[in-house]
Amino acid sequence: MKTIEEIRKEIEAFQIENAETLEQFRLQFLTKKSEIQALFAELKNMQPEERKAFGQIINELKNAATERFNSFKEISEMQTSTRQQIADVTRPAQNVEVGSMHPISIMMNQVRRIFEDIGFTAVTGPDVEDDWHVFTALNFPEEHPARDMQDTFFIDLHPDVLLRTHTSSLQVRTMENQKPPIRVICPGRVFRNEAITSRAHCIFHQVEGLYVAESVSFADMKQTLLYFAQRMFGPEVRIRLRPSYFPFTEPSAEMDISCNICGGAGCNLCKHTGWVEILGCGMVDPNVLDNCGIDSKKYSGFAFGLGIERMTMLKYTTNDIRLYFENDVRFLRQFKAATK
Ligand code: PHE
Repeated sequence: MKTIEEIRKEIEAFQIENAETLEQFRLQFLTKKSEIQALFAELKNMQPEERKAFGQIINELKNAATERFNSFKEISEMQTSTRQQIADVTRPAQNVEVGSMHPISIMMNQVRRIFEDIGFTAVTGPDVEDDWHVFTALNFPEEHPARDMQDTFFIDLHPDVLLRTHTSSLQVRTMENQKPPIRVICPGRVFRNEAITSRAHCIFHQVEGLYVAESVSFADMKQTLLYFAQRMFGPEVRIRLRPSYFPFTEPSAEMDISCNICGGAGCNLCKHTGWVEILGCGMVDPNVLDNCGIDSKKYSGFAFGLGIERMTMLKYTTNDIRLYFENDVRFLRQFKAATK
């Protein structure tokens, strides 16, 4: 049998390098069949005095083996867990996808900036509105089809509460709270009970504008809108105003711009007319001014409203409005360059 000293040396000299050699170490020194355990069997043949001294020695031997075993195990467990935590810094860097602004936000900001540059201030307000601010104050007759269930989302709780169908409600709120001169733009989300198609959606975005002061004229409106169209679509863009009807403006018009794709020559986008419609506008109806507590004999004003989705589709020539609501990153990613 090996001497105790020999076993001690073996324990110290044993090369533990990996899980495999650790297991060999365990089998050799720490199992029931190990040499150390065999020494324990000797104890019963000894005299009490001898047994005590010998017992102490072989206990120390066993402890030394257990200690080596545990400390290697501990270190190797620590190493694997840090290896899992710390990335290999020599690996090629992972591509971090930087997000981009949504095209609707890009367009909203552009429209805002263009009008803010000439003294308009943006105002915001509630999506959930009451009948007065969306319809009645704006001179909508009682039986006007826009009030119909087919266009407007009403809130079950109360017939007077509804989702705004246009941000003209903010024009009313502004006129109720401010004295002329008033120069505001009203960006926001609007809701209409429409079937979702490639050209229409039940949620979309508008920027409306309002200018009220003494002796504001139709010519002022036309010039403001020409300035806007040229800043948005380029200096060569032409505009034309076609007579139209809105309950809250008189006279009312729809504005077209020369087609930004074909420059007016005719293409699919403009249905070969050379023109595309971008907004509605008109002189604020005196009834509306009076409804909002502004003296219509003293003040006049113009208003306009444009649909952001439509503008974005024109500017970036996309042919399906639903793309703006699907949040498909393959689509959104293309607007990275326009994000500032
Ligand atoms: N509120 C109108 C709409 O939503 C747009 C508009 C605003 C027209 C202001 C004229 C003047 O369709």
